[in-house]
Amino acid sequence: MTTEIEARIRLAREVERGASVLSSRVVEAFLNVPRHPFVPAFYRSEGGKYVPTRGPGAEWLRAVYADDVLVTEVDGVHAEDAPDGGVAGDATSSSTAPGLMAEMLDALDVRPGGRVWEIGAGTGYNAGLLCHLAGAGGVTTVDRTARLVDAARERLREVGFEPAVLRADGAGAPPPAGPFDRIIATCAVRRVPRVWLEQCMTGGVIVAPIGNALGGGAVVRLTKLPDGGAAGRFLHRPAAFMPLRADGNTAMPDLPGPPAGRCRASVVGARVLDDHAFSFWVGLCLPRTVLRGGGTLHDPADGSTVHVEDHPGRPSTVTASGPRDLWQLVESAWITWRRHHRPRREWLTLTVSADGTQTVGFTAPDGGATAWVL
Ligand SMILES: C[S@@+](CC[C@H](N)C(=O)[O-])C[C@H]1O[C@@H](n2cnc3c(N)ncnc32)[C@H](O)[C@@H]1O
Repeated sequence: MTTEIEARIRLAREVERGASVLSSRVVEAFLNVPRHPFVPAFYRSEGGKYVPTRGPGAEWLRAVYADDVLVTEVDGVHAEDAPDGGVAGDATSSSTAPGLMAEMLDALDVRPGGRVWEIGAGTGYNAGLLCHLAGAGGVTTVDRTARLVDAARERLREVGFEPAVLRADGAGAPPPAGPFDRIIATCAVRRVPRVWLEQCMTGGVIVAPIGNALGGGAVVRLTKLPDGGAAGRFLHRPAAFMPLRADGNTAMPDLPGPPAGRCRASVVGARVLDDHAFSFWVGLCLPRTVLRGGGTLHDPADGSTVHVEDHPGRPSTVTASGPRDLWQLVESAWITWRRHHRPRREWLTLTVSADGTQTVGFTAPDGGATAWVL
């Protein structure tokens, strides 16, 4: 039977192989900090429900040391407290896939003795890796509920780290240990909260997932500038993080059902949104629009809704209602994106000016510039 140590070494190798270049310090952190103490139970998705898997056991250990996300909380119910039959709802906390964690930690470039603030403590595993990289005395991690932070603090202590683990809204009042030279968020935001910029020292780094309701989330790496602004680029890897929520609110927005409205054909099918680079781009073009699986897009601000259905070998059908045909906007974004040679996330920049304006920028090979204000 595979031991925990063998499984951990295999995961560290997998994480190293999966990334283009990874600092040896990050790989070493994955070798030194075990994942299993942080996830004594997690959920697996089964028949429309989340069913708890509890350790120890061979199946549990295999899943813990796979490069996969492990859901640990559903609508506020922690996997350790869940009934054996499971629960229905939306995932509200998880342990991120290790390969993605590694790339974010690499981008964060944590130094020994550094001062780090993590927003989204979750299981505490990422905080454990941060403690290994910076030293526990410099690490502060926060999450929304007492249940999450108490468990994370306890697990961190079990593996020998005692960072500050606080119950706090990561977009609210800053933790007492600030300012920091590294800030990492493990929940997604539409815009970088002002408090993260204020709490980041000049020359410091912020790594954060920028969410996108059309499915194309991406992680940005920003450097804090002397004028109070920040600038940087997006990482290559797609990153669909759960959103940063207002305290106590775990509800997902409700979407209306498919519309009964105008019907037309389109050569651009719903599957274009499966391309992560395009879904990030189109999410910038349609910032308020929300996607529901099954090809329904909805703009809560003006009530426009569109449903797209693909048919093998035939044009897709588009049913739109409300003041705007949202699919027309996707079609035109698709044409522009292809004309620009399918820009990937890492070709795009994010600039946060000192007055708070946040702009994603893209410069085409012919010098033409496109900008989206977040
Ligand atoms: C992907 S999980 C974090 C994974 C974690 N870093 C780990 O290693 O297990 C995202 C976390 O963000 C937290 N979160 C969401 N909104 C938040 C907020 N406003 N303030 C602090 N944490 C928040 C969620 O409760 C959740 O635990």
